Amino acid sequence: MLVNSKKMLEEAKEGHYAIPHFNINNLEWTRFILEECEKEKSPVILGVSEGASKYMGGFQVVSNMVKALDEALSITVPVCLHLDHGSSVSTCKEAIDSGFTSVMIDASKYSLEENIKITKEVVSYAHERNVTVEAEIGHIGGEEDGVLDELAYAKVEDACLLASETGIDTIAPALGSVHGPYKGEPKLDFDKMAEIKERTNLPLVLHGGSGIDDEKIKKAIDVGITKLNINTELQMEWTSAVRKFLEENKTVYDPRKVIKAGEEQMKKAICAKIHLLASNQKA
Ligand code: 13P
Repeated sequence: MLVNSKKMLEEAKEGHYAIPHFNINNLEWTRFILEECEKEKSPVILGVSEGASKYMGGFQVVSNMVKALDEALSITVPVCLHLDHGSSVSTCKEAIDSGFTSVMIDASKYSLEENIKITKEVVSYAHERNVTVEAEIGHIGGEEDGVLDELAYAKVEDACLLASETGIDTIAPALGSVHGPYKGEPKLDFDKMAEIKERTNLPLVLHGGSGIDDEKIKKAIDVGITKLNINTELQMEWTSAVRKFLEENKTVYDPRKVIKAGEEQMKKAICAKIHLLASNQKA
């Protein structure tokens, strides 16, 4: 059975560790992630972007697939199915109606006032259905940015207002991380992270978790990061293994063999992340 992210994130906040959010792109990836998390006894959040959802056939297909795999593989660790960067109220509602147990509403491109208004509407719909909500403040960039522009960093006051006015369950403040590969060194603002955690008392989410070195991730968890989003790193690990396999096996054409070629390397990366996120854990 899928769960929302409330209990796992509260427990992680209390225990000073972080829950991994791994993005999924297809059935095989979902299976690899679930199997490895079960093996390592780690709760997991499966993140699905709108683009990945469309690629897989829509929210209902994704939800049915994740539920079916969770049952068929006899997964016992808590699994949350989460919409990553939902762009509108209607998209979030559609994901919730399809069985997602958590949604992110990303209204960070709007004014604070508008962000609060949109987020509030999602929270009201989601909470009535036992679904958790993450919201973004500041603006977490992408490959085009490489390193986050100072102006895009979240303001502490804005984060506090977004939290108190909307009743969100988790907050993702832009504090120096970006999606995709970094062009330079990520400059994470740990002081602001600590202050936002202190003042909102919410589990904090760090997007753009790929390419940040282990010490920085540990420090971020130390000051309040409770959920780490990872996508690019798994994509790179899987692709490099598959590329090598194809170069060495020019006559293979069975897609099962091709996709499977990335399984071991991807699972190793998942396992390493799980251990890293748990390394600050207090008994
Ligand atoms: P990366 O692709 O940089 O790992 O970021 C993932 C993410 O933040 C998804 O929301």
